[in-house]
Amino acid sequence: MKRKMIIDSDTASDDAVAILMAHRYLNIEVLAVTIVSGNMTVQDGSRNARYTIELCGAQTPVYVGCERPLLHEPAHAYWYHGPDGMGGMNYPEAKLQAAQGHAVDALIENIRANENDVMLVTLGPLTNIAAALIRAPEIAPLVSRCVIMGGAANVVGNVTPAAEYNIWCDPEAARIVFRSGMNLEMVGWEVGRGDAALTEQEIRDVYALDTPYAKFAMDCNVHALQMAKNWQGDPGLTLHDPTAMAIALDPTLSTRRGKYRVDVETRGELTRGMTVVDERHIVGTQKIFTDAWAVREPNVLVHHELDAARWKELLRQCLG
Ligand code: RIB
Ligand code: CA
Repeated sequence: MKRKMIIDSDTASDDAVAILMAHRYLNIEVLAVTIVSGNMTVQDGSRNARYTIELCGAQTPVYVGCERPLLHEPAHAYWYHGPDGMGGMNYPEAKLQAAQGHAVDALIENIRANENDVMLVTLGPLTNIAAALIRAPEIAPLVSRCVIMGGAANVVGNVTPAAEYNIWCDPEAARIVFRSGMNLEMVGWEVGRGDAALTEQEIRDVYALDTPYAKFAMDCNVHALQMAKNWQGDPGLTLHDPTAMAIALDPTLSTRRGKYRVDVETRGELTRGMTVVDERHIVGTQKIFTDAWAVREPNVLVHHELDAARWKELLRQCLG
């Protein structure tokens, strides 16, 4: 019996690896990939997703979605992922065409048609998901798990000291999703750092698998590798979307987690996009609910750490 999954993505290099993992993992059926503006324009994201899916020998429909965040201007990240988002590899156009229809409609239809039987994995800004929830709020409880790659759980962010990119791009959308009542799990960018980053030797080990998947996964991340090391100060290749996908595929990889109230700062001059995690349950225990804390009950399962050795083994399995 396969588990059903929808992936929402702003497909650049690490998204591509996550999409590949879901298609290569044994008991997953990917119903749709929906594309949102983020790392890339939606056209470039769609092109990269379709190339990745075709490489896997699959025909998963790819729907183009929201072309910009709800309120802010787009802030693409070609500077991080390379001029094509795929490390400058300039892969050819896939034969697989973009599916007819809008990503937001596809999200609503697929969730309704697979009530309580579909997992949602988000790898980009939450614009598409928020738009779907605005149109059809009743879909929130129909999603079995929504695993969000995004945020920074009371740790430093990557695009500002306070915020992680996916949430910072569209904080209003993130707030809608975090307040929606969906069964949310958050995998912040910190989970993919430190021991979870692939060292030069581990990258060589992946190449040694000698499959098209392994070569693709490492080649398209060459630009991201340099940025991770030189800009983020990480020890190797950080694969944020794939680490979130790994926890979606196998929740036992998560080694430290907790369920907390989490909300998103939308207006802070210095803190826009910050995921505020009530890690010590201060709000509830002190009976302090300001107007700002609309979230009354713990609403998000936050993953803080994963088993780095097992995550890398899972990655190698998917690429082998
Ligand atoms: O902050 C990490 C996120 O932004 C990931 O989704 C990755 O694709 C990136 O660019
Ligand atoms: Ca992404």
